[in-house]
Amino acid sequence: MAYSEKLLDHFKNPRNVGTLDKNKNTVGTGLVGAPECGDVMRLQIEVSEDGIIQEAKFKTFGCGSAIASSSLATEWLKGKSVDEAASIDNMAIVEELELPPVKIHCSVLAEDAIKAAIKDYQEKNAKA
Ligand code: FES
Ligand code: FES
Repeated sequence: MAYSEKLLDHFKNPRNVGTLDKNKNTVGTGLVGAPECGDVMRLQIEVSEDGIIQEAKFKTFGCGSAIASSSLATEWLKGKSVDEAASIDNMAIVEELELPPVKIHCSVLAEDAIKAAIKDYQEKNAKA
């Protein structure tokens, strides 16, 4: 199976690996697992007062495609509004990284992690 240059680059030099303070109200944390393989991904966003994602970090305990998908996702998230981030589709990740069919669920994990992080942020900031 041949992996694309972009995928290998993200796998070898993952962007934005790390942790944000999950207790901050400006931070949303998504932690998701893939039922297909048991791989786990944590993705976090930090949102400014005007609703723009300033920071995004991830840690992925999983395959190379999952690491590359989450690395790419954090790059895409920075500078986006929360609404724009919510519309990131896993198929865009599949296209960008040229993931083979057996690795599509790795990109789904990234989309799920983004959605979970946004949900956590929104729940923290819901007006009572
Ligand atoms: Fe082994 Fe994903 S199935 S790392
Ligand atoms: Fe399961 Fe990639 S093989 S996330």
